[in-house]
Amino acid sequence: MTRILTGIQASGRPHLGNILGAILPAIKLSQKPDTESFLFIADLHSMTTIKDAQTLVDNTRAVASAWLACGFDADKNFFYRQSRLAGYHTELLWYLSCQTPYPMLANAHSFKDKSDRLSDVNAGLFTYPVLQAADIVLYKANFVPVGKDQKQHLEMSKDIAASFNRTYGEVLVLPEPLIDESVMVIPGTDGTKMSKSYKNYIDIFLPEKPLQKVIKSILSDSTPLEEPKNPDTDITFKLYSLIADEADIETMRQNYLRGGYGYGHAKQALFELIWKKFEKEREIFNYYMENTEALEKKLREGEEKVREIAKKTIEEVRIVLGFN
Ligand code: ADP
Ligand code: TRP
Repeated sequence: MTRILTGIQASGRPHLGNILGAILPAIKLSQKPDTESFLFIADLHSMTTIKDAQTLVDNTRAVASAWLACGFDADKNFFYRQSRLAGYHTELLWYLSCQTPYPMLANAHSFKDKSDRLSDVNAGLFTYPVLQAADIVLYKANFVPVGKDQKQHLEMSKDIAASFNRTYGEVLVLPEPLIDESVMVIPGTDGTKMSKSYKNYIDIFLPEKPLQKVIKSILSDSTPLEEPKNPDTDITFKLYSLIADEADIETMRQNYLRGGYGYGHAKQALFELIWKKFEKEREIFNYYMENTEALEKKLREGEEKVREIAKKTIEEVRIVLGFN
């Protein structure tokens, strides 16, 4: 049995970029035979930046609901909040911290990017990669699917675990990152990378009118309706071709090239596609957002399942440390 594990920060409602770039590929991976997937909300990590309890709770609910809505099977796999197992995660964080050289952490991009404003850096942000290593080795994960931006963190996780094993014996499983270089960067409404931070994202879970409004706001040039347009440089067409099926993409391409087809028509088609295609996901998302006790139940069940695994690893680690 292969163990796959990944953590998701509780940073808000997942958008189309997160869904196409991270959520759907990870769900596909979890459906492979002979694999079990550990998927958790990294709410302890989110504390390094989010300082408001209600925001953290709301974000956690939105992220968890989105994963369930997109088809993650929490019953067959492991679905949990890191904070509910904080004792195990942070205990291992300490043991691993004592194996982590200071220069390794000082070199982390996540820290270095902020090193010109050191007064903004809290100790949690500095030890962030060690907590991430603990998250992974606590469950003896073999593979960790992440985005390219997490490559360095994963290298550090593996180095920290290897250093622990060299000192205390082969207790920890060394994790390998799974980075899919072919995952496209989904453009936002302004054409740059879709991101929560740029406010250019498409929230597929929005109600009809607000969703339509966001899609209408996608940037386009001023070519008049009658004239032919270049589909390959247009953001609406790009987004449409990431979701639509082959025949519909070809039809839209021909419409662009022929002329007499405005960006407004293309945006309406994109809106209708997103509205229809994610209908079931929207329904499930709203269900969990409104029925928080149902969501809570799923998470609590997951937390009970992983507790046994975490406990076992910690017991093994304590023995080699001489703490039994
Ligand atoms: P955001 O930039 O909105 O804050 P995150 O950094 O939280 O997104 O990313 C969460 C996951 O979604 C990561 O695995 C990341 O690679 C993926 N992701 C985010 N934005 C995009 C995008 N525009 N295209 C493809 N994947 C994306
Ligand atoms: N640092 C990761 C991110 O920002 C989230 C994360 C925390 C994670 N712990 C993890 C990812 C363990 C993979 C494995 O995306």
